[in-house]
Amino acid sequence: MDKNNVLKNKNFDIKNIKVIQAPLAGISDIVYRNHIRHHSKSCLLSTEMLSSEALKNVPNPKIADFKQVEYPLSFQIVGHKPDLMVNAAKLLKERASVIDINCGCPVNKVVKSNDGSGLMKTPELAYEIAKAVKSAVDIPMSVKFRLGWSQENKNFIEFGKLMQKAGADFVTLHGRCRSDLYSGISDWRAIGELKKELDIPVFANGDIKTVEDAIKCLEITKADGVSIGRGLMGDFTLASRIEHYLLTGRIIEEPNLEEKIRMLLCHIEDEIELRGEINGIKFMRKFYGFYISKVKNASKYRQVLVQLETFDEVKQTLDGILCLSLGN
Ligand SMILES: Cc1cc2nc3c(=O)[nH]c(=O)nc-3n(C[C@H](O)[C@H](O)[C@H](O)COP(=O)(O)O)c2cc1C
Repeated sequence: MDKNNVLKNKNFDIKNIKVIQAPLAGISDIVYRNHIRHHSKSCLLSTEMLSSEALKNVPNPKIADFKQVEYPLSFQIVGHKPDLMVNAAKLLKERASVIDINCGCPVNKVVKSNDGSGLMKTPELAYEIAKAVKSAVDIPMSVKFRLGWSQENKNFIEFGKLMQKAGADFVTLHGRCRSDLYSGISDWRAIGELKKELDIPVFANGDIKTVEDAIKCLEITKADGVSIGRGLMGDFTLASRIEHYLLTGRIIEEPNLEEKIRMLLCHIEDEIELRGEINGIKFMRKFYGFYISKVKNASKYRQVLVQLETFDEVKQTLDGILCLSLGN
């Protein structure tokens, strides 16, 4: 294996982690993770989910690239075949601080083959996979799951206990069912119920968008830490600001619009370096709404931004938005 595919620092202890950057397919690429790491030295970064089927044919895909500075870094795998999941975990273990098993993804193309949250319908199979992955790697293994397949079939307590029995070193619970997709709100009280039942650390996930949300979520759930997805999409400082509060009891204000636009421009530049201008600008269209969410007329501006095709056009438009927002 290429030396660059070995994560040098293997000294990882989940007890030191308070914030996990949640895996986001099509979002949490190497650029995204490195920007978060720039602000937080200690949060646990996560790759997007990596398909165990795809890894069978392409064992060293570009999507699994990483930088040493990303330590601690979790690699998430998705699939429903124990042998392929073990193969994926073995392929990735040298570069990972943690191997995370995806039992939460709700999208049709994933659950139709019983992957992601589809595994919550077959807890015995999820158990077999988790146990086999744990025995195949000498690093921590974790599982991310939801409350259950549907409101009528919530099995997160039983599921969490099974994952613990399978050897999971920690779990992350998103307080929604598969049938909710992303509607409604994450049920933090349910996450608190799981926390009471398990001996391993439990991380609370869903709808944490501010430091205040994290404080409230931790109060309600008594979880060991929080896992943040969309909250980081327009503000790379959120993980570090939560960690700062937990360490000092002091809240650092969220970046203002000027700072967020500066952050966005750096993000775009790095994506362009990775993907080229055409694809980099296309990729970034998913982020604009998050970065400018607090601006008056945000959705109108977003509609303009997503039509643009070059860095210069985006930069000029963002400068204009900033001037208008500051009343210049
Ligand atoms: C665009 C997008 C992609 C996602 N991709 C993944 C993924 O690859 N693996 C996973 O476990 N969850 C994935 N999720 C779910 C998130 O990790 C997280 O559980 C969910 O967004 C709720 O947390 P949040 O409210 O902090 O965003 C994805 C969510 C979104 C919105």
